[in-house]
Amino acid sequence: MTPEPHYPTGPDDLATDPPPGCPAHGVGPGGLYRLHEARDLKALYARLRESYGPVAPVLLHDDVPMWVVLGHAENLHMVRTPSHFTRDSRIWTPLAEGMVKPDHPLMPHIAWQPICSHAEGDEHKRLRGAVTAAMATIDHRGLRRHIGRATQRLVNRFCETGRAELVDQFSEHLPMAVMCHVLGMPEEYDDRIVHAARDMLKGTETAIASNEYIMGCLRRLAARRRTQPEDDFASHLVNDPAGLTDDEVGQHLRVVLIAAYEATANLLANTIRRVLTEPGFRAQLNGGQMTVPEAVEQSLWDEPPFSTVLGYFAKEETELGGQRIRKGDGLLFGIAPGNVDPRVRPDPTADMQGNRSHLAFGGGPHECPGQDIGRAIADVGVDALLMRLPDIQLDCDEEELRWNESIASQHLVELPVRFTPRPQQSETAKPSHTPVIPEPRIDWDISDMPARPADVDDDPPAPEWRTGPVPPAGQEDAAVRPLGRWQRFLRWWRGY
Ligand code: HEM
Repeated sequence: MTPEPHYPTGPDDLATDPPPGCPAHGVGPGGLYRLHEARDLKALYARLRESYGPVAPVLLHDDVPMWVVLGHAENLHMVRTPSHFTRDSRIWTPLAEGMVKPDHPLMPHIAWQPICSHAEGDEHKRLRGAVTAAMATIDHRGLRRHIGRATQRLVNRFCETGRAELVDQFSEHLPMAVMCHVLGMPEEYDDRIVHAARDMLKGTETAIASNEYIMGCLRRLAARRRTQPEDDFASHLVNDPAGLTDDEVGQHLRVVLIAAYEATANLLANTIRRVLTEPGFRAQLNGGQMTVPEAVEQSLWDEPPFSTVLGYFAKEETELGGQRIRKGDGLLFGIAPGNVDPRVRPDPTADMQGNRSHLAFGGGPHECPGQDIGRAIADVGVDALLMRLPDIQLDCDEEELRWNESIASQHLVELPVRFTPRPQQSETAKPSHTPVIPEPRIDWDISDMPARPADVDDDPPAPEWRTGPVPPAGQEDAAVRPLGRWQRFLRWWRGY
């Protein structure tokens, strides 16, 4: 028996034809827009907002009905009200009624899995508690230092050539290098794992094999840490009192690795692209009116790495944004449209400096627990890249830039750049476009060194504390002269 299509309850007058030039390519049953066929999702969200207000009915592939939440306040209400809305898709009526087939293109986003992203209540607390407890053990100062070094290594790979493609050579590598280190498997970081993660997210025919490759790395890591715990994320997750099974550990290592990789790669590429294509943005950065963290935050408002999260599901009949939502209805958490809600941003081009109330990291019980790590990778990575290559320019016309756009995210395909070729730098040096070749100080004496604060860690010794012989010319991280207190503090904080 073919189940009756289940349409969300909406206004009765939905049967509107798209006007000429409408951003929506297709309109389905009930005059509802097919979200996946939209040529310009931003324009379609604006039109839906005009027609329906902050919550609009739409169709997904196979004309599966869904609500898209467009309002900032309505999105926040939904994610913060677990008594009414859950991330557990098993209660979704179209799924329960067999309308969503196992090969539905959005199944990888929707299919319920025993992971914290889909769990709720006590089970969510147990799983998420183990993840956040393991995250709390991360030393953020050491992390920033590691990000600085990983950036130096990546820039060294292309700085002498004067050209690079920053999506492939930088923004997709940096988060993976950092996360392999954080999880406790730095030896697994290489081109292969980056390609596997990219391939898996693209959903190509080799995606299953790529997923298996990544799961293999993570299972081996979990097994090693069960017998030989160390001070890393995987060890803390394995040994958490919540007692995660081997399968749960593997799945949560995967969630963390992939969530971090995909979102942070997008954030890095988006922020760098804006610096390269918007003269005003770059001028504000160069002129000191905007810091790199502020530039990153602006990017989180304007181009959130996940444009929507699929999805939330109504646990009971309720009202949201003037629409009657039935028990079992599905709702798209609309991050990108919520961030441009005219009620919170009457002028969408206005800069949002100092305001972090965007929806990029979600909210409520499922709010992203890795946001500080994502921000740190973007802040340190962009800052160090611009320090190394200050005259970096886009190496194509802006109109030639292409995105892979889906309902869930928008991913820049390539970002070709050119710059003045520059020499490699030591990964422990402070990123600079004019690496200092130290002059040997013949009058230098150990007694010139300032007193060493007790809490500076030794991994490896920061250049300014070095007491050995002056290193050979060309090793720009060598001791030059003692730094002032403030410079020492900055270097200690940034990690380079
Ligand atoms: C710029 C970077 C990032 C962005 C924009 C981002 C965004 C998000 C969003 C929107 C959610 C879903 C919220 C919801 O379901 O309502 C989420 C969940 C999650 N993120 Fe992130 N994320 C980022 C980086 C990271 C990093 C670096 C990690 C790990 C180190 C991480 C780990 C997670 C986990 C484990 C969840 C699931 C939490 C739960 O369901 O309880 N994310 N993130």
